[in-house]
Amino acid sequence: MSVGFAHRIDGLRAEGAYTVLARSQELEARGQDIIHLEIGEPDFPTPANIGQAAARAIAEGKTRYNPSAGIRELREVIAEDAGRRRGLTFRPEQVVVSPGAKPNLFFPALALVNPEEEVVYPDPGYPTYEAMIRITGAIARPMPLLESNGFSIDREALTRLVNARTRLIILNSPGNPTGGVIPEPDLEFVAELAQRHDCWVLADEIYSRITFDGYHVPTIASVPGMSDRTIVLDGFSKTYAMTGWRLGYGIMPVALAERVSLLLNHGIGCTAHFTQIAGIEALTGPQDAVDAMVAEFEARRDRIVDGLNGLRGVRCRKPQGAFYVFPNIEATGLSCECFASRMLEAGVAILPGTAFGQYGEGYVRLAFTNSMENIDRALERMDTVIRAL
Ligand SMILES: Cc1ncc(COP(=O)(O)O)c(C=O)c1O
Repeated sequence: MSVGFAHRIDGLRAEGAYTVLARSQELEARGQDIIHLEIGEPDFPTPANIGQAAARAIAEGKTRYNPSAGIRELREVIAEDAGRRRGLTFRPEQVVVSPGAKPNLFFPALALVNPEEEVVYPDPGYPTYEAMIRITGAIARPMPLLESNGFSIDREALTRLVNARTRLIILNSPGNPTGGVIPEPDLEFVAELAQRHDCWVLADEIYSRITFDGYHVPTIASVPGMSDRTIVLDGFSKTYAMTGWRLGYGIMPVALAERVSLLLNHGIGCTAHFTQIAGIEALTGPQDAVDAMVAEFEARRDRIVDGLNGLRGVRCRKPQGAFYVFPNIEATGLSCECFASRMLEAGVAILPGTAFGQYGEGYVRLAFTNSMENIDRALERMDTVIRAL
């Protein structure tokens, strides 16, 4: 009997953030003070009204199996909220609720892409894209994102990458790790390519509520001809500081939603009922906690961008969304891996750009999911390291 593992998990690695977190916790256990700027989750508590709604739901016995695509009431509320925010009309049947957004990355890819077909994804980008493409047996085609155009898409590279074998193009706006957004003309460009080559687009819009300077992120779902080939991915983890609750959703054409629900049925079963009740409260209850969180992120963004641009050899553009900065550190003379480990030794946990793909070399990611005071302390420590280089 073979004791080997299947090829589909060859080279599979955990997200870089988990690796750096483990290393920084080891250092903490040895007494070192670490400022955590590696974690991609809000440092705010889940708003109290959401927790209370879940507690009531548990007391009422909403703890059983329920429909795989989610309870009807939540699907209706999501369709209304997501549609209104995007100026579109979605039907509840298009919504598939999942435990976290991640299953709505995996299952649409499994439902759409055959082994050996190709999927284009952003690089630097969220590491799960490449992992899930490989697990499905498809060929992963990284699309380089460029600092020079605000980390939108690289039209020339995309044109070269998309061909008759391409089944799916993944977009992420606002993006992790860059904070870049994709403006409307670029979305139209992608839409034209997708229609010409008859492929799907998965638009990961999980950071769409965390935007700055009053910017409203456009969606490819509203470009003419795209509604029947687009999956909009969103969720509660970031907007409502609910990362550990595991609640997300995809919005897609009904025929695909039915198939994704089947995969969810066999792969997961369903999303916890009381968590879905919490989701209804999140979307229909007061939104002031979200507004306050986004305002605080914007103030921190300004502080961290200014601070980074004051460091020798560091250049940082201002992101328009999400809670990450992605400064260029090439002029320090260090590789991004070396830069990140020097900073960790000095008590600042950050991620090398290559944790997000090969095109992340020359950059590091800092999540401003820590207090203003800690951001200031981190910048001071970074300055000391760079001066000593
Ligand atoms: C771009 C992006 N998409 C999807 C996810 C997954 O979200 P969830 O925790 O809801 O599964 C994340 C989480 O970090 C993310 O950064």
